[in-house]
Amino acid sequence: MAETITVTDNRTGESVEIPIVDGGVDAAEWRKLMPGTWFYDPAFMTTAATSSGITELDGEAGILRYQGYPIEQLAEHSSYLEVAYLLIHGELPTEDQYSVWNHEITYHTFIHENVRKRFMEGFHYDAHPMGMLVSALAALSTFYREAKDIQDPEIRDKQIVRLIAKMPTLAACAYRFGVGMPFVYPDNSLDFTSNFLSMMFKVAEPRFDANPVLSKALDTLFILHADHEQNCSTTAMRVIGSAHADPYVASAGAAAALYGPRHGGANEAVVKMLTEIGSYENVEPFIESVKEGKGRLQGFGHRVYKSYDPRARIVKQTADQVFEVTGKNPLLDIALKLEEVALNDDYFVSRKLYPNVDFYSGLIYQAMKFPVDMFPVLFAIPRVSGWLAHWGEMLAQSSKIARPRQLYVGAEVRDYVPMDARA
Ligand code: CMC
Repeated sequence: MAETITVTDNRTGESVEIPIVDGGVDAAEWRKLMPGTWFYDPAFMTTAATSSGITELDGEAGILRYQGYPIEQLAEHSSYLEVAYLLIHGELPTEDQYSVWNHEITYHTFIHENVRKRFMEGFHYDAHPMGMLVSALAALSTFYREAKDIQDPEIRDKQIVRLIAKMPTLAACAYRFGVGMPFVYPDNSLDFTSNFLSMMFKVAEPRFDANPVLSKALDTLFILHADHEQNCSTTAMRVIGSAHADPYVASAGAAAALYGPRHGGANEAVVKMLTEIGSYENVEPFIESVKEGKGRLQGFGHRVYKSYDPRARIVKQTADQVFEVTGKNPLLDIALKLEEVALNDDYFVSRKLYPNVDFYSGLIYQAMKFPVDMFPVLFAIPRVSGWLAHWGEMLAQSSKIARPRQLYVGAEVRDYVPMDARA
């Protein structure tokens, strides 16, 4: 059978045969036959807006790979910083490359004092930390004005290092402000995740040594969240980047997309949902209410995964390790029961709705004493490396400015009516 489709323009009788490559067709061929005729495809349901060599995702088979490496192997053997290098540079680092990379990231964790004192401390006392992070990312653009020079590879690399390095510092700064605790400066003798935990939870001790199991668990979650191909926030990053905005404001835009409860805000929504369900007995009535259209089962379903999200499986294992240290999160039983009921219910099975990465991650964060409103911030810390990898790839592709077409459904042309003559 030919791996092509034939499109005929019945107005002219002209046809074009378009090859199906990797399951899709190239719109450039279509354009040749019918220039000016566009596809109506809200939410990009059938549109590949780019080619990308960073992350491979097969939602039917439940496969996720970064630069060819299965997520399961990276979660078991790698570290977040190594994965960030892999995403951005395309290869795992040699020992020497890693040593330079680790040093660079470690020595760019400090934020300008004015970012903290004048900017972060200017927020209202109960500001949501994700709102603070989004704003702080944009504000960094005003501190590193050379970042505008996106065509210079050295300048680009410097901003990539700065952004990855400063995310935990900004995140912890937002948290400490919210709870009225003094800011903790980065400790360059600690690894990436332990340093973050120190900035979050250090009180009066001279050095905060995070529990290694918790530090490793958080690092694993960072690996799992580092990239997920053309998701909503990464698409935002590419779209803003295509206008040649600097990487700080582009990351702020991406982080804003991530904040939404349909995307990175879902782990927060899961814990709220489980808390509202409150007990084992309420699970089945809750499932029934979801089936009646009263809300959604948070942490379930995915635009791309139509089988179990491979990240959710690893998160579930990580949860067991964390709960051995912290004690079991009391919401776990409700979550397990919810999963069991949903996976045996035709409503969820027929729609291919399975737990996604957010279903169990919130339980881990909560057990580690992160407040619920920090959950999307925890998602953003590692996702910045994915955003930057895609930003770099988009620039290397000399991508045109993103500018979709629209289907106009508004009023016909009409004449201006003076205010006193309007009905
Ligand atoms: N609970 C109940 N029903 C659902 C759910 C859910 N979580 N998700 C989808 N459905 C139903 C939906 O009602 C629809 O049913 P019908 O065909 O009868 O109208 C069908 O499944 C298809 O749903 P959709 O909204 O067209 O699917 P989508 O691909 O546009 O949405 C989603 C994907 C992730 C936004 C959605 O599944 C959802 O809202 N899930 C809950 C929020 C969540 O967990 N988000 C985190 C996603 S993973 C993290 C990330 O990568 O950002």
